[in-house]
Amino acid sequence: MNTIQATDQYMMNAFGRIPLVEAAGHNCTCTDENGKTYIDFGSGIGCNVLGWCNDKWVDAVCAQVKSLQHACNYYYTQPQAQLAESLAKITGFSKMFFGNSGAEANECAIKVARKYSSDRYGKNRGTIVSLVNSFHGRTLATLAATGQDVFHQYFYPFPSGHVFAKANDLDDLKSKLDGTVCGIMLEVIQGEGGVCALDKEYVQAVKEICDNEDIILIIDEVQTGCGRTGTFLAQEQFGIRANVTTLAKAIGGGLPIGICLADEKTAGVITPGTHGSTFGGNPVVCAGANAVIEQITAEGFLDSVKEKAAYLRGELEKIPEITGLTGIGMMIGMTLKTKNAHDVMVAANDAGLLVLTAKEKLRLLPPLTITKEEMDAGLAILRKVLS
Ligand SMILES: Cc1ncc(COP(=O)(O)O)c(C=O)c1O
Repeated sequence: MNTIQATDQYMMNAFGRIPLVEAAGHNCTCTDENGKTYIDFGSGIGCNVLGWCNDKWVDAVCAQVKSLQHACNYYYTQPQAQLAESLAKITGFSKMFFGNSGAEANECAIKVARKYSSDRYGKNRGTIVSLVNSFHGRTLATLAATGQDVFHQYFYPFPSGHVFAKANDLDDLKSKLDGTVCGIMLEVIQGEGGVCALDKEYVQAVKEICDNEDIILIIDEVQTGCGRTGTFLAQEQFGIRANVTTLAKAIGGGLPIGICLADEKTAGVITPGTHGSTFGGNPVVCAGANAVIEQITAEGFLDSVKEKAAYLRGELEKIPEITGLTGIGMMIGMTLKTKNAHDVMVAANDAGLLVLTAKEKLRLLPPLTITKEEMDAGLAILRKVLS
């Protein structure tokens, strides 16, 4: 069987896959098994933040895999320690927990909010409020925290203690605060929900409510974090710092990782035996993440992301079929005038450009290392597909 046949025969049919076998890649250009090349405006849904097979990332991962591939978390490893120290210094968060995915990071965040509350107020204060149209993952708890009805099917019973408030509607949020709420969870830009940024004033008001009511503010930066919007965390542009923040996708540079960061208030919540992971903080994955951080935080890198985003957005605005641009920085949603976003994605793939969709929008999450030449090549294809 060839790759597509074997996958379709033996893998559960969870993804509506496009018939393209990715075989190799460098920076923002990838090659399929037939040698056809593609410009990458999707970075594997925001994971290949340094592009395909970035040299320094590959060197770091290969060096680590040759010396120590796994250690049980009862022992210490240098790459894990280095990653934790770097992230604490960059973000100002006090402590963190390493898992393997965004959903796991969000599970940890929910546990931190609930245990913080349980330690102080006892039982019956475990409700998590999240926002309508949010997306927080595919585990049962993170599905329960996801504010879209389409995800609340089939898998009953879902964990209880999850309610939803309308995004950017402070009165609706306040109406959910019935004394049982321990955490409010949000994405400052709803990614899967259609690249919709929250209002800055709303986010700041939520932060104030959380501080006043001793509610844990969880910001899910699985998609927005690690430089995607032009700052290391997107919440920096909203002028706040959450109590708990989650990272995944980009921070691994293409290897699986999920991180739950806790502030001074929540840093001591997780104690031995209350949480854990076999592979979380794996030294190879952490070595790759350290290579990501080194490059993302290098002098001028985040400024270059802002410049690239301004250029890309300026060029996209000139395309008549695109009637609106959403998101911040290199997290771009596009409203189309007449065309169907999924059809455009398929047509773009055929023409040699990898793009994404989010709800009814076309979505771009280009690698942050993309060059002007690669942007121009991708834009030329997009113009043609949208004409
Ligand atoms: C905001 C957000 N949170 C959580 C997740 C889940 O991450 P993972 O698929 O790594 O579990 C995603 C994935 O798209 C996401 O966009």
